[in-house]
Amino acid sequence: MSGVLDSKNLNGGQRLAVKYFSVAVVLFLAQVVFGMVAALQYVMPDLFYDVLDFNVNRMVHINAMVVWLLYGFIGAVYWLVEDEAGHEVVGLPLGNIAFYVLTAAVTVVVAVYLLVQTGPGEMQTIWLINEGREYIEAPRWADIGIVVVMLVFFFNISATFMKGRWSGISGVLVLDLVALAAIYLCGMFFTANVSVDQYWWWWVIHLWVEATWEVLVGCIMAWGLIKTLGARRKIVTTWLYIEVALMFGSGILGLGHHYFWIGTPEYWLSIGGFFSALEPIPLVAMVVHAVYDAGVHKFKSANHPALAWLIAHAFGNFFGAGVWGFMHTLPQINLYTHGTQWSASHGHLAFFGAYATINIAFFYLALQKWRGDVWMASGLAGNGWRWKWALGLLHLGVVGMTVALLIAGYEQSFIERAIGGSSWQAFFEAQMHPWFVMAMQWRVLFGVITVAGVLLLVWDLLTIGARETRRAEFVTEAVSS
Ligand code: HEM
Ligand code: HEM
Ligand SMILES: [Fe+2]
Repeated sequence: MSGVLDSKNLNGGQRLAVKYFSVAVVLFLAQVVFGMVAALQYVMPDLFYDVLDFNVNRMVHINAMVVWLLYGFIGAVYWLVEDEAGHEVVGLPLGNIAFYVLTAAVTVVVAVYLLVQTGPGEMQTIWLINEGREYIEAPRWADIGIVVVMLVFFFNISATFMKGRWSGISGVLVLDLVALAAIYLCGMFFTANVSVDQYWWWWVIHLWVEATWEVLVGCIMAWGLIKTLGARRKIVTTWLYIEVALMFGSGILGLGHHYFWIGTPEYWLSIGGFFSALEPIPLVAMVVHAVYDAGVHKFKSANHPALAWLIAHAFGNFFGAGVWGFMHTLPQINLYTHGTQWSASHGHLAFFGAYATINIAFFYLALQKWRGDVWMASGLAGNGWRWKWALGLLHLGVVGMTVALLIAGYEQSFIERAIGGSSWQAFFEAQMHPWFVMAMQWRVLFGVITVAGVLLLVWDLLTIGARETRRAEFVTEAVSS
């Protein structure tokens, strides 16, 4: 029956996918709650002092983000694998066990973050509490667990394609998963030299978000465009190859934009400046591609929320990563902006625009099928306003925070760096400047709007299509157009 959540509507991979998606949504909610507390601590420094300090909230905020996005990606791959391979997931029971093991591990890690928080500078802390590397703070036991779970995931996916059939999309996807997993290893060992440590740490952070994750979302997007719009596979695959070539071509050496000031040789100034300045090009290609497909198919889709979030991804990726990244990527500029709120401005718009959006699109695709291929386009029974408001509030909130942080970043670059010469005293002058203080207050306001958007999104995800009885007339892959 359409309109009712029923796991019989899903294939094996998809049943596992919706588990990943469910945890992802919970972690997204946790992300914004802890972000909110951290933002409030900027304007009320005494808040939760010595109970839940800023560093802990910040860590939970960004770790929850990385983990929910990864859950979403894993879910999306399990979602499409059977369809793409024409074969049932190989080793699904193992995949299910891996899911529960991973989720239990994440729960323990977060509990330790919140209850134990910090430890002495010893190996025991690295093994049991946290490793102290931003974004991937998880303690070493969890690192190893994550690697094992990823190996299971990789086995499930590649074995399924091997037993079934390969396609352009799946070929790129599997090779990319190898790279993505391999570079995680670079963030797992400890060196006492901070420059060396940072050098390798960026291999994970930069080569994830500016190379392997981009390629992964390229694959997911390609499949999404075929499914939501009936775009032609041949065209989508050709675009994918071009985008991947450009992405790796610029993204790999673009790594150099993090090597300007950490004690690495000076040639990185030119290499990093040049290649990272090219990084927006594939992102333009991705926008053109998405808009082209949507135009050719006259935006005809039986799943409007998913299509809207896919388009939001194309633009969010371009502005957040491409434009906001480009703004501070030349060493001449980065000298002044490095490590200011400018970086946080870019970080918010990029992670939200490029990665939160496409995951949300997949949540909607999943719900549609889970409810028995229910109609999710115009004239949605009863609650069609909700997804639009969630989309609007989330964008207003995140873009508002981005602008507030950019103003703070400008102010810091001028007052602390250009005028004050980066002295300790100049740092505090910049922190107390009215522009900075006001920007932090605006961020709280837009943060509240973001939280409202997330809450509405969750409500919508729980209810959309529930009272709908019409079935989607599915767009089929166009044979000619
Ligand atoms: C979706 C892709 C991207 C994401 C998610 C992303 C995210 C981030 C984040 C979170 C940071 C702050 C890291 C920290 O904590 O120090 C950062 C830094 C940076 N990003 Fe991106 N970024 C992306 C793409 C790009 C692109 C395409 C460019 C260049 C065109 C770029 C240029 C930079 C630069 C120069 C920094 C260093 C900022 C500093 O010196 O403090 N990013 N990025
Ligand atoms: C309720 C909404 C949110 C609030 C109030 C908020 C607040 C904050 C705060 C206070 C920080 C620490 C900044 C610092 O160290 O100065 C932070 C960091 C960060 N947040 Fe959020 N955040 C929110 C939502 C999001 C969302 C939706 C994303 C992405 C999907 C995101 C991604 C990040 C990233 C990547 C960083 C690290 C930035 C860097 O290292 O430069 N946040 N956030
Ligand atoms: Fe980077």
